[in-house]
Amino acid sequence: MSPSTSRGRDPASAVAAKAPVLTIDGPSGSGKGTVSRLVAHALGWHYLDSGALYRAVGLAAAWEQIDLSDAEAVAACAARTAIRFDGEGEGEPRVWVNGKDATHQLRMETAGAAASAIAAHPQVRAALTDLQRSFRRFPGLVADGRDMGTVIFPDAPFKVFLTASAGERARRRHKQLKEKGVSVSFDGLLHEITARDERDASRAVAPLKPADDALFLDSTGRSIGEVVQQVLAVVPWSSAEDPPARPSGPR
Ligand code: DC
Repeated sequence: MSPSTSRGRDPASAVAAKAPVLTIDGPSGSGKGTVSRLVAHALGWHYLDSGALYRAVGLAAAWEQIDLSDAEAVAACAARTAIRFDGEGEGEPRVWVNGKDATHQLRMETAGAAASAIAAHPQVRAALTDLQRSFRRFPGLVADGRDMGTVIFPDAPFKVFLTASAGERARRRHKQLKEKGVSVSFDGLLHEITARDERDASRAVAPLKPADDALFLDSTGRSIGEVVQQVLAVVPWSSAEDPPARPSGPR
């Protein structure tokens, strides 16, 4: 049988032929971005920042002056928007949207709010599904978002739900933005973060919620290093010298 044919293969070997995925879902400011990048780096795995995709589509739609409540128009925009991540490492990758370096703009809370608004449209989520799944490559993928463990990679062998108290999440976001030279009021940020999480958790499609088989971690009062170690412990061979060999055949 040709390696590209899956008919006739038993289901167990079909699953084994897929690259492993570690999903890290959680609310904004839970530390999942930083933790996911560090964990991906430690494992030597690829990294998917799914929030950046929603932010990029929100931004591209705004550039095209599309009404963000128009689900069909935003979904069409998602399908034609070119999004490119530059560099995989411990640092934040640069993000290019339709050929423009949008890294800085995408980190603004306004971009987060626009992303959250368009992410509630099922048509937009559907337009981004295949793109997200295409990041699954050997030796493995760390995928960060809201529905990575529930919808995009439900068969992921490793799942974490990372959260922290609202106050701590706002404090972290405030510090992050300050370091980037963006000045915002702490109270305003706390309000925006809480409103965004409520919208993400209450939407009808792919709401923010832990997968049934996810490990629930609360990062309140813990250092990034501690959380990274806790997450790495979920992947059994993260401290082993020899990870399982990559199977031959299709990905
Ligand atoms: O992770 P983030 O803050 O960059 O995400 C921005 C918004 O995008 C978030 O408020 C909701 C949406 N999002 C989503 O709906 N599903 C994902 N997998 C990732 C992000």
